[in-house]
Amino acid sequence: MPDNVFASPHPLVAHKLTKLRDRRTEPKKFRELIREIAGLIVYEATLDLATVPTTVMTPLAEAPGVQLREKIGLVPILRAGLGIVEGVWDLMPTAEVWHIGLYRDERTLKPVEYYNKLPVEPTVSVCLVLDPMLATGGSAVAAIDILKRWGVTKIKFVGLIAAPEGIQNLSSHHPDVPIHVAAIDSHLNEIGYIVPGLGDAGDRQFGTA
Ligand code: PRP
Ligand code: URA
Repeated sequence: MPDNVFASPHPLVAHKLTKLRDRRTEPKKFRELIREIAGLIVYEATLDLATVPTTVMTPLAEAPGVQLREKIGLVPILRAGLGIVEGVWDLMPTAEVWHIGLYRDERTLKPVEYYNKLPVEPTVSVCLVLDPMLATGGSAVAAIDILKRWGVTKIKFVGLIAAPEGIQNLSSHHPDVPIHVAAIDSHLNEIGYIVPGLGDAGDRQFGTA
């Protein structure tokens, strides 16, 4: 496993992920759990964000502090990334959100791009690519290709469940991109679903199964 792949060791993450996987978990609870787990994973994923020193006046005295140095872009991959962006945006409300629309062709499992409104020049210096599932890795590779062409060089992938096949694909195309997830599962099945996984993350969030 590459040394920039991180599966959360946190018991809270494991507890919530267990409920998320449960087939009996209905969409409302599923969305709540995605939001909560996303906050915990991004907390771990942003440990190395650059800061600049500053000071602030408390009611008593001047206190030393810091501000985030870089402009952060959150890039949810539609649709299923929408649940993650809610949880992450709560923690960094000044981040910009740039949506990328990709769906997997059911037959080829290749990503198909259908939405991209990025402006010509990059407006952020760090991008967090948000998608709950890293299955074949095709969608994540395509989204990161788009962001690199846009001009962003510092990119992290933040997700919930990864298959070893997806990690291998993403790491070989973009070895500079760290991967942060709640868990790494066993394998992909013959139709490209993560096993044991949680099923279809988009359908379970939006009640479209
Ligand atoms: C899911 C998921 C990822 C992709 C992962 O999206 O949200 O974007 O599959 O698979 P990959 O690693 O093999 O590319 P899906 O295509 O089902 O679209 P949706 O989010 O609109 O449901
Ligand atoms: N997309 C999903 O939503 N689930 C999987 O297991 C694989 C791809």
